[in-house]
Amino acid sequence: MLKDEPGTEEVPNVFQIMYSSMIHWTRLIAGGLALPLVFPWLVYNLYRSHFKNKIFRNRFLEDKVVLITGASSGLGEALAHAFHKAGTRVILAARRTDALEKVKKDLMEKYPSKNVPVVLTMDLLDLKKMPEKAKEALDIYGHIDILVNNGGISYRGEIADTDLDVDLRVMFTNYFGPVALTKAILPSMLEINSGFILAISSVQGKIAIPYRSAYSSSKHALQAFFDTLKSELNHTNIHVCVVSPGYVQTNLSLNAVTGDGKQYGVMDQATASGMNPDEVAENIIIATAAKRSELVLAGLLPKIAIWIRVVCPWLYFYMMGSRARRIRASNAIKQE
Ligand SMILES: NC(=O)c1ccc[n+]([C@@H]2O[C@H](COP(=O)([O-])OP(=O)(O)OC[C@H]3O[C@@H](n4cnc5c(N)ncnc54)[C@H](OP(=O)(O)O)[C@@H]3O)[C@@H](O)[C@H]2O)c1
Repeated sequence: MLKDEPGTEEVPNVFQIMYSSMIHWTRLIAGGLALPLVFPWLVYNLYRSHFKNKIFRNRFLEDKVVLITGASSGLGEALAHAFHKAGTRVILAARRTDALEKVKKDLMEKYPSKNVPVVLTMDLLDLKKMPEKAKEALDIYGHIDILVNNGGISYRGEIADTDLDVDLRVMFTNYFGPVALTKAILPSMLEINSGFILAISSVQGKIAIPYRSAYSSSKHALQAFFDTLKSELNHTNIHVCVVSPGYVQTNLSLNAVTGDGKQYGVMDQATASGMNPDEVAENIIIATAAKRSELVLAGLLPKIAIWIRVVCPWLYFYMMGSRARRIRASNAIKQE
């Protein structure tokens, strides 16, 4: 048959048509999305690198009054170093006055400054005294610019074997204490229409894991309270940021309370190999200068777990059920 004979030219079949139109639309969509996605990404990264710049950040933080709870050890101590180094006026709060005095001495030796840290003994469990403690803190410089609700306690145990007193103690330390302190400081911030409130929660404030019921519940409550506060203060110049770290190398597990109220006293493997507290503090400082409203400081796996809990709850419960069975089988409920 001759090639130019009518009806003999190659007619593209339906699959070729579909394929070429798919390529065409993919190019169009990719081209159309590239600019709106890449441009904000570039702007966001420029913005972030701006706040990573210490000169700019320290100019923003200089002479700000920062009240840090749980400043006697761990992450609170690292935050005290980071804020003091940035030129702020820090008020160090916790129960152990001697440990706070040592932190104060270390700060002045490491970074001599006109801003001498002030020690404030405070028990987060003592809710009745909170207004008095807040007044004591406010009287030092006349106001608080940044309130860091960091003090807290962890827990190891099984719900069935845990005294209610233990649930209350964890809940009062990690939730009602920060709530009472924030409520006592907030009116002074509202008066000057300025302030920044940080709540150090945890990845466990977003997802609950087995044998950590009291801790995880207290952090979920903390997240909800400060999320609500954030929206209620939306019309003001007071900002709220919830920080959710994964494991951090501190004494948190050593100081954790067990189901019968005793001190756990063991350094968990996960905590021992966690993030460096100084790095976590550095990220919190950047978030403060950038007035961020949320900060999840964790690796990819915890972030995926948070996501699975939201989009695929049955898979999350399957994973946590297996985890609980595994821990039970190895008879290591407290160690996990
Ligand atoms: N380490 C982690 O893996 C991790 C992960 C996510 C979130 N976090 C959070 O980070 C925060 C700091 O914990 P950390 O890891 O630094 O543990 P940490 O070394 O045990 O420090 C806890 C701090 O809280 C203070 N505190 C405990 N009970 C208190 C009370 N009743 N009243 C006043 N202060 C109290 C302690 O001071 P005193 O004993 O002197 O009172 C201490 O300074 C906690 O909120 C914790 O939930 C930690």
